[in-house]
Amino acid sequence: MNVLLLGSGAREHAIAWKLSQSPKLTSLYVAPGNPGTADVATNLPVSVDDFEAIVRTCKEQRIDLVVVGSEGPLAAGLVDRLLVEGIAAFGPAKSAAIIESSKVFSKQLMARIGIPTATFGVFDNEAAARKYVDQADGSLVIKADGLAVGKGAIVTDSSAAAHEAVTTIMRDRAFGAAGDRVVIEQRLYGPEVSAHAFTDGQTVAHMPFSCDHKPVFDGDQGPNTGGMGAYSPPGWFSDADQQWARESVTEAAIKAMYDAGLPYKGVLYPGILCANDGMMVLEFNSRFGDPEAQVLFPRLESDLLEVMWAVANNKLAEVELRWSDEACVGVVLASGGYPAKYKTGLPIEGIDELDPDVLVFHAGTARQEDGTLVTSGGRVLTVSALGPDLQAARDKAYRNVERIRFEGMHYRRDIGARAVAAPN
Ligand code: GLY
Repeated sequence: MNVLLLGSGAREHAIAWKLSQSPKLTSLYVAPGNPGTADVATNLPVSVDDFEAIVRTCKEQRIDLVVVGSEGPLAAGLVDRLLVEGIAAFGPAKSAAIIESSKVFSKQLMARIGIPTATFGVFDNEAAARKYVDQADGSLVIKADGLAVGKGAIVTDSSAAAHEAVTTIMRDRAFGAAGDRVVIEQRLYGPEVSAHAFTDGQTVAHMPFSCDHKPVFDGDQGPNTGGMGAYSPPGWFSDADQQWARESVTEAAIKAMYDAGLPYKGVLYPGILCANDGMMVLEFNSRFGDPEAQVLFPRLESDLLEVMWAVANNKLAEVELRWSDEACVGVVLASGGYPAKYKTGLPIEGIDELDPDVLVFHAGTARQEDGTLVTSGGRVLTVSALGPDLQAARDKAYRNVERIRFEGMHYRRDIGARAVAAPN
């Protein structure tokens, strides 16, 4: 089978690494890819937003399956376009990708089918939004309705900050039309769990649970990032909570989408917050989490291509998914200054010095003409290690992280630490 994977992050490197192991694979292409995906696939200089070029590439390379890594092309209707051309795709159609691309849609879906979520209001009028802020009790999160490259949710801790967020989104239009409507919701506190599942619209195959660490500094201090590291499994997430997340959140949402005539195919990943007074669903995502993918795929024993092909062809019920019992910890190495301004073009050293069973997934890296690997983004690499338990996986990941060097490199030292300390 010939496969085209779209994207260029560490998530896509992890997907490409796993797909490349499939006995069913003939050729794997990644567009645009990165220096890491170049080690396991052929990179093609095609933008994920250029649908014409993607379709042309599919025809030229006789692609059997397109795997869409990120939410932008899904929300813009890439899967619909590919299906019109007779090309199979892993990912939801535009009408179903709305579960991530409209915060209003997902909150209203949750309210309608009884999935617990933070109290919220929806506004397309600035004055009404401000009135809601004035009357609210406690801290708020202000979310642009549409996609805003992961930056559209502003977490605030005072009424003044909430008003400032309304100004940013609705008056200054920092996220353009994505901010035509906003969701304003109660801010929740507690650890988060990512509950990924494959689905072909009817059959659901759950993945192990995983946890991301979004704030930039140890102890969850500092601004939020795309994710500074992840681990799987969270031993502290009880069997009862796991069952609730699988049945009452993921399966309930997939059934509701099907019943509404919006069958959802691909990967669905609800973000669940475990508050003191119960669990709440924060959001639904229509793609794999990053860095969650970097700790899930090392644990997957089944053939990922077989699974993705089955999803695309409504045959997930025929596939059995097997996962390793081992734990996995992934630590993101970031550029100095990230998530604010950072330098690029800095040489990266030490990748060749890692243990042979430790994985390094590239994100913001570039290869210079003389072969030197340099930084080119905020999140540069994810170092992922497996171990018989979380402590062993953590120790191995950090032992290897310490061998990598680039100017200004920073990383969290507490990925998975609270879970190791927590009772199982
Ligand atoms: N891990 C956060 C995200 O992928 O949205």
